[in-house]
Amino acid sequence: MAERWDALWRNAALATMADGDGGWGVIASGAIAVRDGRIAWIGPEADLPGDAERRAATVRDAAGRWITPALVDCHTHLVFGGDRADEFERRLRGESYQEIARSGGGILSTVRATRAADEESLYRSAARRARRLLAEGVTTIEVKSGYGLGVDSELRMLRVGRRLGRELPLTVRTTLLSAHALPPEFEGDRAGFLRRVREEILPRAAAEGLADAVDAFCDEIAFSRRECEGVLRDGAELGLDLRLHADQLSDQGGAALAARLGARSADHLEYTSDEGVAAMAGSGTVAVLLPGAYHFLGGDRVPPVEAFRTRGVAMAVATDLNPGSSPLASLLLAMNLACVHFGLTPLEALAGVTRHGARVLGLEAERGTLEEAKAADFVLWDVGHPRELAYWAGANPSAAVVRAGRPLPTEGMPGEAEPPSEGAGKDEGPISSLQG
Ligand code: NIG
Ligand code: FE
Repeated sequence: MAERWDALWRNAALATMADGDGGWGVIASGAIAVRDGRIAWIGPEADLPGDAERRAATVRDAAGRWITPALVDCHTHLVFGGDRADEFERRLRGESYQEIARSGGGILSTVRATRAADEESLYRSAARRARRLLAEGVTTIEVKSGYGLGVDSELRMLRVGRRLGRELPLTVRTTLLSAHALPPEFEGDRAGFLRRVREEILPRAAAEGLADAVDAFCDEIAFSRRECEGVLRDGAELGLDLRLHADQLSDQGGAALAARLGARSADHLEYTSDEGVAAMAGSGTVAVLLPGAYHFLGGDRVPPVEAFRTRGVAMAVATDLNPGSSPLASLLLAMNLACVHFGLTPLEALAGVTRHGARVLGLEAERGTLEEAKAADFVLWDVGHPRELAYWAGANPSAAVVRAGRPLPTEGMPGEAEPPSEGAGKDEGPISSLQG
């Protein structure tokens, strides 16, 4: 007997992003059938079996719309307390990100606000941000810790990340980023703090199944290459994936370190040298480009995109959503910024938030392209061509977001009447009510 399908989308233009040559993977007139949350069949309308409509419990007309894989935001810090709009004003008046950090602001001001927030309010504010991403077709996100910097506060952030994945229609991968800044109680005792991270926080996070990966901030205002190496090596021994904030504000040899340790990604990379690029090419480490941080910090140097291309280093694009360097709650806008500031093509930008983003999170077998047996997470767009996803700024052309084979309700999606700020406590919305 023919396989039964839960739903069949007909009459779509597909950009599968599964083209081995790195193209859009276009199927001009295509169809997708789903079953048990996965893609059961995908291909040209002309190849659909004759009994296709009888096999499907629901048949939907895509009305000629484009369908792409749902988007993956592979680098976010979206769990945090407070905001840093005051520092934004200080930077506009001429102070640098580094000066503000050295004066006790920056990451440490978010650490104070995050420590002061309880788990429930951290969850509510993070869920609100996550819903904005969902509304534009992001169904997979990474969430980092790094604003707690203590055992309990770091684990709390990771638990909030896990809860987002349980309560929202999202796949969440969590990353422990305790080596993000030196907390005040360890001032003058870097070694003591790193012992706390390596001997307590990291083993607890791994043992409690709260972290999928470990990350560190390798920079003059954060941790040295050697310090980061120690943390990452411990993480690898515990079976975690490795990531690294590398060469964002100066060349620390971070990209080469990430490559040498077999990290899944090195992230930021504005100051990465040619040797760093070559090392990444050799190890298959993905370059995660974060144009939001470049944009908000008024960067003067862009990542070596042409060298990544020439050497075949895959480039992902992410929001870096955080209250300091990148208060950017739109992955579509990150795609636009990657094109405008870094010179990516719209095709590279879309590959960066689908195929390559999934690879950074170790989810390439499951997500990031439209192929049979992969998760049925995809987006229907009101665009004439998917290149428009990187073209419009401040628009959200998604017509429907499909998660595990089910369309999410779109009416009243977040984005129009947002609550004023953190802690306003208003987090209801159709996407949340979908979960039951
Ligand atoms: O990815 N670079 C380090 N960490 C974050 C910024 C964190 C912050 O400023 O709060 C980033 O840009
Ligand atoms: Fe970051």
